[in-house]
Amino acid sequence: MTIDKKFVDKFVNITSKAALASSYLVGKKDKIAADKAAVDSMRTELNNIDMKGEIVIGEGELDDAPMLYIGEKLGTSNGPEFDIAVDPLEGTNFAANNLPGALSVIAISEKNNLFKAPETYMEKISTRIKEKNVVDLDYSLKKNITNLSDYLNKEPKDLTACLLDRPRHNEIINELKDLKVSLKLISDGDVSGALLVTDKKYNVDIFLGIGGGPEGVLAAAALDAYDCNFQGRFLFNTDKDKIRAKNMGINDLSKKYELSEIVSGDSIFCATGITSGDLVSGINIKNNEFISETFVTHKSTGLKKVIKLKQNFR
Ligand code: FBP
Repeated sequence: MTIDKKFVDKFVNITSKAALASSYLVGKKDKIAADKAAVDSMRTELNNIDMKGEIVIGEGELDDAPMLYIGEKLGTSNGPEFDIAVDPLEGTNFAANNLPGALSVIAISEKNNLFKAPETYMEKISTRIKEKNVVDLDYSLKKNITNLSDYLNKEPKDLTACLLDRPRHNEIINELKDLKVSLKLISDGDVSGALLVTDKKYNVDIFLGIGGGPEGVLAAAALDAYDCNFQGRFLFNTDKDKIRAKNMGINDLSKKYELSEIVSGDSIFCATGITSGDLVSGINIKNNEFISETFVTHKSTGLKKVIKLKQNFR
């Protein structure tokens, strides 16, 4: 079974509309309002799609989120069954402060093929290299960099590593500096950060570090279509996190997940720019039309491209 390609346009439309809704709040120093605009739009539009959809990654659990909560059923019920992962506004600070890189993101798989990820941190690693045992979450940073440079036939000084600029990464940053690896430190937005390994044009050889678990699953869906490598390990710091994880069916709390355990089967991934960033340009409003750019993948058809859409306001 695959996901019919007619759904690609439908989901591009969903993230484009959510990005447009959020774009009106760009630079207004209100990340909650910018997020809410994207959430409201995405939920309304998802409910118009002929599908039986269920949120596996969303705004949180029912207790914390009234909309797009994990387990929420969406769509007209008249169509295929999908797992849906959403991040209506990825990079709330970017939107609030009018900085590059805010995105509206969705990933869809056939039912039971996307990991139900808890709201917790995840240790992640990703490269363009599909082969196993070159780069691995269990290897030391030095071993990963040495293997990567041997594999790519590049000196470590000619490699670039992308990671979130956080104090928790100070040790990694210092080690990369000692190894002479170039850094691309991002202040937020590690869905986009992980996707920079998909194409040499972004000049990122490895993405690593600790970021959001849901963001890890979303990125994995696109990385799967690009035949890239991704591994993730959830980090459960509090007892509450651990209980939540168990309730979601995660028994081995320190398990390293391979990409194929996070997403399998067919999938569609869409990320529309709200503000312009590395992957796509932001929403551009002109008179009675708006232009959106969406980074799209559809695994079964091999679709991997940026779709630019010009739409009239209804
Ligand atoms: P928001 O859009 O929810 O603000 O998330 C932005 C983000 O940078 C994610 O891309 C990343 O996974 C996460 O925050 C990192 O969390 P933290 O800021 O706690 O390090």
